[in-house]
Amino acid sequence: MHILITGMAGFIGHALARRLAADDHSIVGIDNLNSYYDVTLKQARLNELDDLANVQFRLLDLTDAEGLQRLLDESHFDCVIHLAAQAGVRHSLSHPEVYGQANLIGHMNVLEACRRHAIGHLIYASSSSVYGLNNKIPFSTKDNVDQPASLYAATKKSNELMAHSYSHLYGLPTTGLRFFTVYGPWGRPDMALFRFTRNILEGRPVELYNRGDMSRDFTYIDDIVEGIVRLLPLVPSREAPSAPPYRLYNIGYGRPVNLMEFVEAIERATGKMAIRDYQPMQPGDIQHTWADTAPLYAATGFQPRIDVATGVERFVSWYRTYYHTVSPATTTDARRAGLA
Ligand code: NAD
Ligand code: UGA
Repeated sequence: MHILITGMAGFIGHALARRLAADDHSIVGIDNLNSYYDVTLKQARLNELDDLANVQFRLLDLTDAEGLQRLLDESHFDCVIHLAAQAGVRHSLSHPEVYGQANLIGHMNVLEACRRHAIGHLIYASSSSVYGLNNKIPFSTKDNVDQPASLYAATKKSNELMAHSYSHLYGLPTTGLRFFTVYGPWGRPDMALFRFTRNILEGRPVELYNRGDMSRDFTYIDDIVEGIVRLLPLVPSREAPSAPPYRLYNIGYGRPVNLMEFVEAIERATGKMAIRDYQPMQPGDIQHTWADTAPLYAATGFQPRIDVATGVERFVSWYRTYYHTVSPATTTDARRAGLA
């Protein structure tokens, strides 16, 4: 297939591009390489894709609607996988405007470009954060979720609503994916695993929100990628008389892990003890997440398989290699990258 990936320099985008290229798809990836976190890391991810003849990169911002239309004029894509967004729950409290631009205007531009070019399947990233103040666990896509706890979550829920309207009105087949706290090698410096690993290795305290009384359905990057790959050929049908070609899935490991257990896994992987700094609950955060993975399994036969102990070890091993071998990165660069 000829596939467009938005956000290809991102954590999930670059891992997906590598996998799809290995599966012999041809990929065009776009990204605006913004400085939300270390651009060197984004560039290093792209460098990893440099040698692949079937992957091309274009610098493009999603808010440039004409640029996006021109790109889709140039060649026909069988599928668009839209991952570019301003991610991060807590950052959305201090920088709401960026979320409006990237996640609302950007998403609308993608939908509109897909409609005009009769794209056969749009797969886009939603988020477990949409479950918001819903406290019925495990979280199911059948749950009524209209109480987002952050603007980030509100933009992701809006993405699903906007996709529904395009599926209904124009028959655009869309699949929305609610990813659950994704982690692994090449992970995001603003997220817990990166911050905790860096601080533990440097002997600095790790901040534990809600005094550590949190849990997440942490999901390893390869499982996220496998879930997307399995859904790629499952195009929502335009034929059903009463339903638009619109689908939504959770992609999560399917078992929540307490934050304190997560820290202990990092301690084991690094061989160092964390200095615990207990902090209050952060505005916008939700206390627990847990994915109902049965619908993904029913559709694809796939159940995520990498547990936190294994996934954290792989991350720490990558972190040690990356920050000791990639010039000119040092732990100081890692500190800058983490926005701390
Ligand atoms: P990321 O920040 O690493 O990747 C997103 C990429 O999009 C970045 O490289 C960024 O430069 C690019 N981007 C942002 N705004 C853009 C714009 N206006 N135009 C072009 N490019 C732009 O994040 P990620 O963790 O890879 O997340 C990918 C997607 O999955 C996002 O939509 C995110 O909201 C969603 N998601 C991620 C997680 C997670 O735990 N990582 C969980 C749930 C949902
Ligand atoms: C993550 C991503 O950052 C979001 O982009 C994504 O949409 C969301 O997952 C999702 O699943 O939808 P979050 O779960 O907050 O959000 O991921 P982390 O930043 O890795 O935090 C994991 C847990 O550690 C949370 O409970 C958080 O409150 C906690 N945490 C994080 C701390 O206690 N201290 C920190 O310094 C950072």
